[in-house]
Formats: sequence, structure tokens, C-alpha cells
Amino acid sequence: MITMTGKLMSRGQRLGCVLALSVLALFLRGVPWARALDNGLAMTPTMGWLHWERFMCNIDCKEEPDSCVSEQLFMQMADLMVSDGWKDAGYQYICIDDCWMASTRDSNGNLQADPMRFPGGIRRLANYVHSKGLKLGIYADVGNKTCAGYPGSFGYYDIDAKTFADWGVDLLKFDGCYCDSLEHLADGYKQMSLALNRTSRSIVYSCEWPLYMWPFRKPNYTEIRQYCNHWRNFGDIFDSWQSVKSILDWSSSNQDTIVDVAGPGGWNDPDMLVIGNYGLSWDQQVTQMALWAIMAAPLLMSNDLRHISPQAKVLLQNKYVIAINQDPLGKQGYRLRKEDNFEVWERPLSSLAWAVAIRNLLEIGGPRSHTISVVFLGRSVACNPACLITQLLPVKKELGLFEWTSTLKTRINPTGTVLLQIKKPS
Ligand SMILES: *[C@@H]1O[C@H](CO)[C@@H](O)[C@H](O)[C@H]1NC(C)=O
Ligand SMILES: *[C@@H]1O[C@H](CO)[C@@H](O)[C@H](O)[C@H]1NC(C)=O
Ligand SMILES: *[C@@H]1O[C@H](CO)[C@@H](O)[C@H](O)[C@H]1NC(C)=O
Repeated sequence: MITMTGKLMSRGQRLGCVLALSVLALFLRGVPWARALDNGLAMTPTMGWLHWERFMCNIDCKEEPDSCVSEQLFMQMADLMVSDGWKDAGYQYICIDDCWMASTRDSNGNLQADPMRFPGGIRRLANYVHSKGLKLGIYADVGNKTCAGYPGSFGYYDIDAKTFADWGVDLLKFDGCYCDSLEHLADGYKQMSLALNRTSRSIVYSCEWPLYMWPFRKPNYTEIRQYCNHWRNFGDIFDSWQSVKSILDWSSSNQDTIVDVAGPGGWNDPDMLVIGNYGLSWDQQVTQMALWAIMAAPLLMSNDLRHISPQAKVLLQNKYVIAINQDPLGKQGYRLRKEDNFEVWERPLSSLAWAVAIRNLLEIGGPRSHTISVVFLGRSVACNPACLITQLLPVKKELGLFEWTSTLKTRINPTGTVLLQIKKPS
């Protein structure tokens, strides 16, 4: 995350023939030109739960025992992940963000959890989470302090990697606050990656390296992919439509840079799912779910699984949408076109299938109709000579067989999205 005090930049201190050609282009694009971090993890985008957006740095367990960052919170979420179908839907990682630590290292220089809020320590919490068949994620920072001011890992990369491995941690979110130079930033992210590897434990490595580089120079994604399993590019998500929109705008504006670098083992991370909280309307929640699937984004929910509407739960557990997100081909989708306040996004899937999302960008009026010739979809091959189209969101509906000369008409609510799956007729 970024805080005002933690930001690298702040206070100057831190910083046919045509068809054949398009098929060819598709396969050329498909050449994996960037090697992924070789730890065998994140072959599909990580799925789980992360505390930050919903619970932030609430450390007041006296006043708010049920929503402070404590072992009880993570144990309750782990229980619910299993009992309420989240685990079966594919959500696996229970992730701790900032504010779990004691304010200082122990006398041996090791990180330690806050003893009041985590009386059993992280190792016992990891055991508990593992006993449920889930995995545990933790948080640290490449610089001298975490964003919230807890001990940073600068100078301690090997020690901290070993601590996390000893505790049985399965994922590390590594933030970039309080880092005084781009050299320290790049060097730190690489060193922690190598340190995690030396522990011999399988630990998913979630970076914020490009996010902290962008203000200074364009990140080298080839390099980032060699060291990280996913990486944040853009600021923290908030529980608002404004925030979700800004992430989608950033992702489409920079798609020529970020889309091709994603693939099995390494993903662009547009940050947490905020579905099931306070800030998004139903249509906007549908938009987030649909577009995070198109973008091959890690699906890390930040919500309160103890208090979540049945509607949000059904959306987050939608197996068809999750299958798109987790498609084994692992190619990220992109915005195909934007006109008349509609956006069309598409994503190539395995078995020559495609996912298509059509957004109504207007925030006024009622549902609007959008018509597109299916020949424009899926690089002109998806519906050639014909295709079967299923609407997945907002509700599942078979739309039938489309010849390549036909048009597809959808009706979309303001700020909403229609998510479609296009398949070859068998
Ligand atoms: C460490 O890196 C090597 C070489 O890239 C790889 O074969 C091995 O699986 C990695 N180990 C872990 C635990 O990530
Ligand atoms: C951490 O602080 C020390 C001492 O002020 C400084 O030399 C070092 O460059 C800092 N490291 C980072 C990554 O900011
Ligand atoms: C990016 O990093 C890769 C791998 O380290 C390197 O081969 C390449 O030259 C770098 N690209 C640029 C533009 O610096």
C-alpha cells in the first residue's frame, strides 16, 4: 500500500488472408518472451483474501475486538473460507497485510508479531490455516519501515525470508515504502526473491516494485517477471467506483506495456476485490468481477466474510467467471475498443474460446443497447465461421449460435458490464 508518509516520492525524500494474418499475429503474440520466476507457483492468478482494504491498520482490539488486525480475525476468516464455500470456489490464501508486527525486532533481530494481537505467534496461525487446507500470506517491506511504520526488511532480507519460511508462510506481499533510491528498490526486490528461493519453501512473491518505479521511469517488466509472481502497477484500491474506474483506465491506457508480460507464473495485480463492502453498486460489483477475470488478475478479496450479502457471495463464487480468471492459457485480456461510451474488452482462452466484456461507461440514464458485429471479436477468428455465445454476467443466459456475419446486441446498465463467453460449436 501507499500512505502519504510512505510514498517513495513524498517530500523529496523517497522516493481469410486477413484472418490468416490475424491468426498468425495471435500466435506471435503468444510467444512467451519473458521468463517467469522459476518457483513453480502462481501458474494461474492467486486467489484468496487479504485484510487491507476492509480492515486497514486497525490495531485497537480493546475498542474493536472484532475488526482489529489480530490472529482471531484471520482464524475466523479461515473458518468461513471452508464453511461457506470459498475454498471450494478456489480461494486459498488467507493474507495478512501491514500492521501485524510488534514495533521492534526481537533481541536477535528477527521480526515478531505483536504479542497482544497475535498471542500464538505466526507459526501457530500458519498451522491453524494449514489445518483447514488453506495457505497463509504475510506482509513486509523492502525499505527501512513498512508503510504504517513497522520494521522494514532493508538489511534483513535473508533473515526475514528465513523467518517466514520457518513459520510456514506461503505468500509474501512485499511493499515499497521508505526506500530511498531506485537502486535500493530494484536491488531489494531482487534480493528478497533470491532469499525466498534459498529457504527452499514454496512462497508466492507478491511485489509492488513497478508501482514505486513508475513516478521515475518505466519499469522493465521482463526483469520484474523474472523475480515476482505478481506485481502491483497502480495505487491502492479503495471501496469506491471512482477507484475501480481509475484502475481500469490505467490498465487500458498502459495495456501495450503490461498485457503481454502476464502469463503463468507472473501476473499484473490491479489490487483487491472490494465486492461485498459498502462502496460499489450491484452493477459496479459485476464490473469489477468481470474485468478482474478479463485481466487475469489475482482474486484477493478484501471484505468481511462474516457479514457479506448473499448476492455478493454468489458473484464472488461464480464458477464460470472464476474459470475465465483461472484459464490455463494464462493470457491477459485487453480493451478492444472504446466508442459511444461503451468499452469492449476481450481475452483469449484455452480451446480457442474467448471472454468478452462490454461496459456501459455512462453514469446517467438507464440500460443502453450495444450492437457489435461478431466478426470483430476474438481477432476475427472467434466467430469464424460461427460461434456459441453464453452470457455469464450479470446473469447466465445462453444466447445461441452466431454466424460470422451476424451482430450481437446486449443491454447494459449504467456503470455495469455484460460478460460473455464465446466458444466454437462442437
Ligand atoms: C529456486 O530457483 C531454482 C532455479 O531457478 C528453481 O529450480 C527452484 O525450484 C527454486 N526453488 C524455490 C523454492 O523457489
Ligand atoms: C535505510 O536507512 C539508512 C540509514 O539512514 C540508509 O543509509 C539507507 O539507505 C536506508 N535504506 C533505504 C532502502 O531507504
Ligand atoms: C530488461 O531486463 C532484461 C532482463 O534483465 C534485460 O535483458 C533487458 O536488456 C532490459 N531491458 C531494458 C530496456 O533495459
